[in-house]
Amino acid sequence: MSHREWWRDAVVYQIYPRSFADADGDGQGDLAGIRARLPYLVELGVDAVWLTPFYPSPMADGGYDVADFCDVDPRFGTLADFDALVADAAGHGIRVIVDIVPNHCSAEHPWFKQALAAEPGSPARERFIFRDEPNNWQSMFGGPAWTQVEDGQWYLHLFDSSQPDWNWRHPDVPALFEDVLRFWLDRGVAGFRVDVAGAMFKDAALPDLPPGTPPDAEPSPYSHQPETLAEHRRWRKILDSYGDRVAILEQWSDNPETMAPYLGDGQLQQVFNFTLMSTPWSAADWRAAIESSVAITAGRPVTAPWVLENHDAPRLATRLGVDQSIIRNPTEEALRGEIDIDRERGLRRARAAALIQLALPGSAYVYQGQELGLHEVLDIPADRREDPIFTRTAGAIFGRDGCRVPLPWSGDAPPYGFADHPVRTWLPQPGDWAGQTVAAQSADPGSMLNLYRTAVRLRREHLGSAPDPAFFDAGPGTLAFTRGPGFALVANLGEEPVALPAHTGTLLASGPLEGDLLPADTAVWVSR
Ligand code: GLC
Repeated sequence: MSHREWWRDAVVYQIYPRSFADADGDGQGDLAGIRARLPYLVELGVDAVWLTPFYPSPMADGGYDVADFCDVDPRFGTLADFDALVADAAGHGIRVIVDIVPNHCSAEHPWFKQALAAEPGSPARERFIFRDEPNNWQSMFGGPAWTQVEDGQWYLHLFDSSQPDWNWRHPDVPALFEDVLRFWLDRGVAGFRVDVAGAMFKDAALPDLPPGTPPDAEPSPYSHQPETLAEHRRWRKILDSYGDRVAILEQWSDNPETMAPYLGDGQLQQVFNFTLMSTPWSAADWRAAIESSVAITAGRPVTAPWVLENHDAPRLATRLGVDQSIIRNPTEEALRGEIDIDRERGLRRARAAALIQLALPGSAYVYQGQELGLHEVLDIPADRREDPIFTRTAGAIFGRDGCRVPLPWSGDAPPYGFADHPVRTWLPQPGDWAGQTVAAQSADPGSMLNLYRTAVRLRREHLGSAPDPAFFDAGPGTLAFTRGPGFALVANLGEEPVALPAHTGTLLASGPLEGDLLPADTAVWVSR
């Protein structure tokens, strides 16, 4: 293929439809709301959007419990709204990627209802993983991964009990998903983000894990089976038959040995690179994380999309505002008031991180609200929380609601233009977001939003086909690399200001410079 595939260095904006924009005023976002806000995405300069699930769902897991893979939940609109969104987006040069959830469905899916109504051992049960005895696997959301049904059998669910896992060895399951892929491809989607992509097939023997193994340990008998890779290759052929469509795998592993098989010839094109989401704010750690990620894809027909935020993790500004020795899960401690959050420092670092992310080779994913520098919302009352992680752990783990709060668009008080009249939003918005809204930030040249707008534009101008990063030493605590002879990023992740290396001009800075000094927690793009 001689042309450079569009997705290789695309900036992709992740939309969580329930929290983006609410056109019908029911307190939950919808497809018409997204369509009405396309000009915002055009101004931001993104190449594509990824929509997390908007399919019919009881919403036990924010829509990742899908009851019908080929329709739109009425709360989000209709298939006609979807088609109109794709058409309008295309008119603006924006592609639409949708989520596909192949590991499980909702307990409300007709096939699971049939399975429950059928006998043990029946073909209807064979589409899922029913057994007379459970093994010792634990759910990713806490508690056992098995739930017992009335006749005494148990079914497997790696996530919530309302999310039964498919049996991919039953021919109906691959056939169903082939239809699902074609259904959305025929409607013009640019590709798929593949949920829990490595878990489709389980080791057929369902072996017990050594006692005490955490559910997300790698490798495991429920991930990375050879049949999963073979199924992905089949999907790749389907995508290729439609032209330049792409699939991006969700895979929470940065172990090169685990990743390598997914990145081989004939596999799906991209695997998310989540490593920067758990890398503490230190130049050495960021450099090591970037170098190992670039090395994983080197020489392969793939690039790894960089992710700083998504709907499953605490907001970046909050993560970077806490003591970096405990970054792996700051929200839980923060919610309990056990650790301090320096919000301003976190935001300063998040601004610098944005310039690092957007200077890296490969595609960049920006989760809605990341471009506004939103903090995790920490004070959602227990009776308003929706994440099954919260309920399955009896409130011991607060979960992901705090990064899923409806976006602030304008105005001084909730719902901040999320809907155009007063409404109770599905998750409560904080009272102090007036300065964070799109309108307020658009009017402020120094805002996070304007930093993103400028960075995305300059990235296109300067980094389109630039070579991989070449790191150089710019002093203690700094992360510095060039992308070809004319462009360099220098970020100060240390505590003290450092002298900027020789350059001919400053393209963009994440914060004020002190003459020729780069202050702590600040990044610049310079020309040389
Ligand atoms: C993925 C999704 C997450 C969901 C889980 C189960 O990790 O990103 O939101 O809860 O899969 O579908």
